[in-house]
Amino acid sequence: MLSLARGFLERKGLGEARLEAELLVAHALQVDRLGLFMRLDAPIQGAELDRARDSLVRRGRREPTAYIVGHREFFGRDFAVGPGALVPRPETELIVDLARERIPAAARDGLRVVDVGTGSGCLAVTLALELEGAVVDAIDLSEDALGWASRNAEALGANVRLHDGEGLERLRELARAGGPFDLIVSNPPYVEPTERDLLAPEVREHEPPLALYAPADDPDHWARGLIELASQTLRPGGLLLVELGHLQGARVHALAEASGARSAEIVDDLAGVPRVLALVR
Ligand SMILES: C[S@@+](CC[C@H](N)C(=O)[O-])C[C@H]1O[C@@H](n2cnc3c(N)ncnc32)[C@H](O)[C@@H]1O
Repeated sequence: MLSLARGFLERKGLGEARLEAELLVAHALQVDRLGLFMRLDAPIQGAELDRARDSLVRRGRREPTAYIVGHREFFGRDFAVGPGALVPRPETELIVDLARERIPAAARDGLRVVDVGTGSGCLAVTLALELEGAVVDAIDLSEDALGWASRNAEALGANVRLHDGEGLERLRELARAGGPFDLIVSNPPYVEPTERDLLAPEVREHEPPLALYAPADDPDHWARGLIELASQTLRPGGLLLVELGHLQGARVHALAEASGARSAEIVDDLAGVPRVLALVR
């Protein structure tokens, strides 16, 4: 079955056909990849064959592997994902690294944190678990995304308060009602609609457009909005961390510098791409 699966995925033009075949067959057999090799001589049952065939056909249509197997790892924890939520990306872990690095353990009790555009909840849930004592809110406009975030918060035992609505408006309301935040994080939609054809089919045809695209002609909409709102929503000395698209770094840095913030820098990800705005109000 492994070699048939691999051959099928190769014919469909998938780059890592061997690894993908192992993941998908393991999923069909309801074991992990190691478990797969431990039962190489066990006969395959009819239901397992059906599940494997179904998974392979879906993958052949370029559905993301994470949607087919139903989860993706983020910062060492498994997040349930499916259509309606962006698949968590490794580069987004930089936001968690920066928050852990820059917020001392002694300052974490009662720390007010908000995640704008929470998707699967990967940032909100991880920060609630990593910054012990923090009080975490998360906002999204998509009901589907909030469903995944709620499932993940519950499954991972994180206390996150979920809010639906438009991100910037809700952020302003939450700060007005509960006081300014100590930490605001966001991985907002930042792909320019003109870049659509450059995206992999997995992304372009399967992940939610609401999670991907910045408003046409305004790729900096989210970073600018969050910087402008910082004076109302972030306490003096509070930290804003925003993930950026690969072309945004210099423009967003200029916006942040002009905002009167105490400090603003753009931090590179592991691939050397300017990836996260770190602004201290
Ligand atoms: C790039 S995804 C990030 C998801 C998640 N934080 C992550 O890092 O995987 C952006 C999220 O913003 C949400 N979103 C898009 N437009 C929004 C808006 N106007 N107000 C609130 N959320 C919005 C999308 O539904 C999506 O879940």
